[in-house]
Amino acid sequence: MKFFLDTANLGELKKAVSWGIVDGVTTNPSLIAKEGRPITEHIKAICDIVDGDISAEVVSTEADEMLKESRELSRIHKNVVVKLPLTRDGITACSKLSKEGIRINVTLCFSPGQALLAAKAGAYIVSPFVGRLDDISAIGMDLIRSITSIYKTHGFTTQVLAASLRSPLHVVDAASAGAHIATMPFKVLDMLFNHPLTDKGLEQFLKDWNRVFEETPAVR
Ligand code: E4P
Repeated sequence: MKFFLDTANLGELKKAVSWGIVDGVTTNPSLIAKEGRPITEHIKAICDIVDGDISAEVVSTEADEMLKESRELSRIHKNVVVKLPLTRDGITACSKLSKEGIRINVTLCFSPGQALLAAKAGAYIVSPFVGRLDDISAIGMDLIRSITSIYKTHGFTTQVLAASLRSPLHVVDAASAGAHIATMPFKVLDMLFNHPLTDKGLEQFLKDWNRVFEETPAVR
């Protein structure tokens, strides 16, 4: 499973990339707006930091405008994947752009039926939102399970990107459910490292070592 970071913050991206486990980035208009600079400039900066798929979302809502905006976004860098919302216009644009070879991430997917539409339109990625379903008392992870099973049955090649993940458990459950990609905020990626027994075990190892070899360097 690929790990994407769901952030447009360059500091967070640099830190996570230094750990060697980041395969790509997802952004959305809210995340780009938080950074306060033009999208083209900002996506370029992200592409300089992360070598992988970088999702950049359109803000147009009408198919013809989406086509124009998507082509512009795709020209920013070869790694840009254009994000389109799962609306009638979004699916219309996805179908056309996929045929042109532009890779599309269909976002704001909340049902298996919508995921079928994205696959039929040739989407490169579909993004079902787990956390936002949990927020309304639906089981978000069930959606990931349904989509991966339907895609497998019918041989669709669209990748399932588990989005709106809010905890390390979400990431693990998305992996078990067969998601190809998990996108997560920096905080969630960072939390995946934590285990009290790791801290306790390391503390004991170093204590035992130092008791005997206090002055001895570890590598001789
Ligand atoms: C995915 O591409 C979206 O940007 C993101 O996962 C949305 O997450 P949220 O529901 O926490 O805003």
